[in-house]
Amino acid sequence: MNFDDHILEVLWSEDQISRRVSDLGSQICADFQSRNEVPVLVGVANGAFVFLADLVRKIRLPLTLDFVRVVSYGIGTVTSGIPKIIVDLKLNVLGRHVVLVEDIVDTGNTLSILIQYLKSKGASSISVCTLLDKPSRRRVHFEPEGEGKYYCGFECPDQFVVGYGLDYAELYRNLPYIGVLKPEIYK
Ligand code: IMP
Ligand code: MG
Repeated sequence: MNFDDHILEVLWSEDQISRRVSDLGSQICADFQSRNEVPVLVGVANGAFVFLADLVRKIRLPLTLDFVRVVSYGIGTVTSGIPKIIVDLKLNVLGRHVVLVEDIVDTGNTLSILIQYLKSKGASSISVCTLLDKPSRRRVHFEPEGEGKYYCGFECPDQFVVGYGLDYAELYRNLPYIGVLKPEIYK
């Protein structure tokens, strides 16, 4: 069984992703260098694990790392409604500059809930760094908090994509590139 055969089209190759992740790392570095405070990067598991692992190695500053886990998708390709935090932070974010690291922003539900949550925990700023953004699907508006910024790798067309951490039914996360899944796979 070859998973590459399940891909209709590769949207971003390993090389393209790697170059873009380096750019994002440099931007984050530049923005945090002057603040003299150690940021906490919070990955949204599971999807962001590959991106986060590559991104942190492009940020040459002291930082701390944590994860939250949110469920919203179940096993389909259509959102199941309000996302729930099922694994909580371990670090205390009170007074900290947080960078939420996400694989893809779709409706915006997940990030808007996480931003509210981090705000309630007293984070002093909340930035968002997402590898992909599907702006055409946005239903909920969210904004970074305080002096936080919005970093985005690539704008994604309204198609279901997998690879580089992104899954369909928990599969395909280990593909090194990002591609469109053939619709017959999830029909
Ligand atoms: P949102 O809450 O609708 O913004 O959804 C965000 C979550 O939906 C992401 O973290 C992904 O886990 C999932 N998601 C949205 N679009 C895709 C896709 O094209 N492929 C894989 N997962 C997706
Ligand atoms: Mg996700």
